[in-house]
Amino acid sequence: MSELHHASIVLAAGKGTRMKSALPKVLHRIAGCSMLGHVLRAARASGEGPRIVVVGPGMDAVHVEALRFEPAAEVVVQNRPLGTADAVACARGGLVGFDGPVIVLFADTPLIRPQTITRLVAAVRAGADIVVLGFRAADPTGYGRIVIDKTGAVTAIREEVDASATERVIDFCNSGVMAFRSPEFLFDLLGEVGTDNAKGEYYLTDVIAIAAARGRTIEAVECPEVEVLGINTRAHQAQAEHALQERLRASAMANGATLVDPSTVFFDVDTVIGADVMIEPNVYFGPGVTIEDRATIKGFCHIEGTTIRAGATVGPFARLRPGADIGPDARVGNFVEVKKAVIEQGAKVNHLTYIGDARVGAGANVGAGTITCNYDGFAKHHTDIGAGAFIGSNSALVAPLRIGDGAYVGSGSVVTRDVAPGALAVGRGRQSEIPGWAERFRSLNSKNRGKA
Ligand code: UD1
Ligand code: CA
Repeated sequence: MSELHHASIVLAAGKGTRMKSALPKVLHRIAGCSMLGHVLRAARASGEGPRIVVVGPGMDAVHVEALRFEPAAEVVVQNRPLGTADAVACARGGLVGFDGPVIVLFADTPLIRPQTITRLVAAVRAGADIVVLGFRAADPTGYGRIVIDKTGAVTAIREEVDASATERVIDFCNSGVMAFRSPEFLFDLLGEVGTDNAKGEYYLTDVIAIAAARGRTIEAVECPEVEVLGINTRAHQAQAEHALQERLRASAMANGATLVDPSTVFFDVDTVIGADVMIEPNVYFGPGVTIEDRATIKGFCHIEGTTIRAGATVGPFARLRPGADIGPDARVGNFVEVKKAVIEQGAKVNHLTYIGDARVGAGANVGAGTITCNYDGFAKHHTDIGAGAFIGSNSALVAPLRIGDGAYVGSGSVVTRDVAPGALAVGRGRQSEIPGWAERFRSLNSKNRGKA
């Protein structure tokens, strides 16, 4: 294995009781991605090397999520949640044969950036035995405090519950992220950690005092608090969501998108946005959205699993669901829902419409209130609308159905059979007219009123 590799151990075995959830804490999402996923993404982006995820017993969903993000990860089970030091010790088997820096990451600290991990690794390579990632906390309550002596050396980390009154005043806090010079050194230290503390747990933080007593070099690296928010409650989760959204908005704008009111636009961590994209206020992006250059998203749209191609316009008030593919310069207007459907180049679906399991050919025009009736209670069926076709307003297109290129469908039709290219299909009651009927009706009623 190359000398430049570093190993990552991601702790995810805690139950996270303070979330008050049936779902393990690390599967809760921030910007559409599980906390565990965020940490594994950052670990991967920080460089090559083995990655070990420590999960609790019966946490099958966490196991699956770990392998979804990192198929090569080693997932190990910590049988009882005896503390962070015990959790790290569980990773030992996964690091046999590896001899380089080891980074410990917490799956409940999802906003960590790869470049920060790289800084810790670099400090170890430059000679430190342990590097702790610290931050200045606006409110240090609940965090371990990093104790530094007069010479500037890190001598201990004290957990809040075990800290003295003077230690509690320290605002330099432990993020939980630490780098160690090698697995051998790390596991040797862990062997000395006991449980003589307020929680009766094996604290990873105790390795600092142990290493300091052995005369080892321990450094602290500082990062902004937002990057290492530890998520223990739903309120923390909302705080992290806020912080990450700010990051995603800033990066969309840096890449050339206009956000009229950034604070009202919500991105998924995987949203891809091109240049000269215009996004109006109150837009929500779920997972799997790509927006190509010069597209416009008007206000109040909900978009997931969708590709919006160059120059297309969407909204206001559009809902684009997974599998929607909005072609170049196409137009999807207000109160339109699109699911698993391709709207080809320049086609228009402007008002009050449902397009599901369909193709709308290039340049076609779908009138207001059109519905593709794609579901018969058992299966989904496809509707194919040819290029340049014109679908009159308030039509129901009963799938499976093909409407040929350039064909017309009369307004208010219920179309159940294929329509040939260039034909007109009308499927509705024929209009009839009775001359003078209204006049007779009115006079009859006014006479009857006199009698009553
Ligand atoms: C921990 C640190 C604290 C730091 C804070 C930062 C210790 C003893 N304390 O406290 O100094 O300021 O994080 O957020 O390390 N976990 C396991 N197995 C266990 C216990 C925990 O895998 O037996 C995992 C959890 O899933 C979580 C992480 O370790 O991802 C941290 O555990 P948590 O209980 O949240 O620690 P804190 O009390 O927040
Ligand atoms: Ca925590």
